[in-house]
Amino acid sequence: MTTALIQTPAWRRLQNHAQAMKGRRITDLFDNDPKRAADFSASLEGIRLDYSKQLIDREGLGFLMALARQQDLPGWIQRMAAGETLNATEGRAAGHMALRGAAGSRMEVQGADVMPAVHAVRQRMNAFAERVRSGQWRGYSGQTIQDVVNIGIGGSDYGPRMVREALRDEADGPRIHFVSNVDGAQIGGLLRWLDPARTLWIVTSKTFTTQETMTNAHTARRWLVQHAGEEAISRHFVAVSTNRAEIERFGIDPANMFEFWDWVGGRYSLWSAVGLAILLSVGPARFDALLEGARAMDQHFVSAPLERNLPVLLALIAIWNFNFLDYGTQVVVPYAQRLDKFIGWLQQLELESNGKTVTRDGARVNYRTSVELWGDVGSNAQHAFFQTLHQGPRVHPVDFILPMQGAPGLDEHHRILVANCLAQSAALMRGKTPAQVHEELHGKGLSGEALESAVPHRVFSGNRPSNTLLLPRLDAWHLGALLALYEHRTFVESVIWEINAFDQWGVELGKQLAQDVLKAMDGKDAGLDPSTIALLEQVRRSTQGQA
Ligand code: F6P
Repeated sequence: MTTALIQTPAWRRLQNHAQAMKGRRITDLFDNDPKRAADFSASLEGIRLDYSKQLIDREGLGFLMALARQQDLPGWIQRMAAGETLNATEGRAAGHMALRGAAGSRMEVQGADVMPAVHAVRQRMNAFAERVRSGQWRGYSGQTIQDVVNIGIGGSDYGPRMVREALRDEADGPRIHFVSNVDGAQIGGLLRWLDPARTLWIVTSKTFTTQETMTNAHTARRWLVQHAGEEAISRHFVAVSTNRAEIERFGIDPANMFEFWDWVGGRYSLWSAVGLAILLSVGPARFDALLEGARAMDQHFVSAPLERNLPVLLALIAIWNFNFLDYGTQVVVPYAQRLDKFIGWLQQLELESNGKTVTRDGARVNYRTSVELWGDVGSNAQHAFFQTLHQGPRVHPVDFILPMQGAPGLDEHHRILVANCLAQSAALMRGKTPAQVHEELHGKGLSGEALESAVPHRVFSGNRPSNTLLLPRLDAWHLGALLALYEHRTFVESVIWEINAFDQWGVELGKQLAQDVLKAMDGKDAGLDPSTIALLEQVRRSTQGQA
């Protein structure tokens, strides 16, 4: 059974329109529509999304809005805001908006007001963070905490790690480290120099059963116990989880547990107790600002008309680019060094949410769903993969993200950064024709065969689309709004594609087979395939050689 989406009138209209638009140039769209630069943009509190450099016209935008209405996007947005069970395969809601709800507000998840519980945990987090940050919280030897290590993976790592990095300049708490990989090199490197008496460990895991996290957590626990005995655990380990029983089994005092709930998806969880490492780093006021920025984006998402709704526009443009214009992959380039962990977070958000090939009802999709997403910070990325963005065989639409204020006291750096960011999107759109290259080379004194053979290498096809997202500055508030913007973009895409953005069954098989490989390593028959057996055998021989 396949879904009927591509047979629907709204989809077909867009397909026809895309055929017509494929022969057009973005630069001509500007020539034909003098108000394009002003009108093809939308704003919220100084955040401006400029989508005028997309290969789309007013008619096409209208067709996209019709698709959104046909797919009942307004209804789905209200259902998410009302805390309905959107994640049917796990029987859960997607309640991350409630995590940034204002104190005193009422927000329901599956019929119950969750705000009292959300705020109770937030208050405990604040109180705990203040004790650690002020030096009241002491380790086993009576010393203050100097280093905090968050052990977690996936959503229990990317979010806090990325925000901590983005707000690094505002950090005024203990030093924060992250351990996610089960590769012992990561935790081993830290254990070589951390002081057990002054280190606090946060074990962050929604399930508290994730193999990588629990392996790292047990290694940290053993290390502490070797130095200071079991009784030190209650002063050096806290847990962030939904699973109280497992926390107790691990030996962490439930008084040191910061709870969250199964209606918070891992990749949407940094706003919950999963953000404890952020709070320890920058303090409650900035963490609140992060939540407030996200809340402003939530309110906009829930109430703004589709035509001016930033997440909706961002998602529908992606749908246009990938489902109708057949472009390659989504590239995201923040011109902000402090966003260098943003892409990893965004990859999990987009690809774990929408990397599905069946609809909510289990029908197979016959259209493209999740779009491969990659990128890096500008201007570094210009010296890595921008060659292919400009002259490679496939068109990869880009989201440029640019905070308008730069590092204090280094204005010249910011001027250059801004110039580069704006130049790249202009270059992608405009390109350079053979005639222009000719003229340019001629002006440099080239002629004849030397000129002719140089031309093709210097031609840029142009007509390559991009969005530019301007942020007033990269502070906690605007960061919160930015992250919520992309969260909602992901959800809108899933609604159009008719898929469940909130489960992740695709990660399970690898986890199961890892157990089989471990069994085979213990000499048991695990039914592995010949290739895997041969690889394992070579690993075994090589490790024996090492021993
Ligand atoms: O990768 C699968 C996944 O379940 C993610 O969705 C999640 O963020 C990550 O593992 C970590 O899970 P947990 O927080 O339960 O340790």
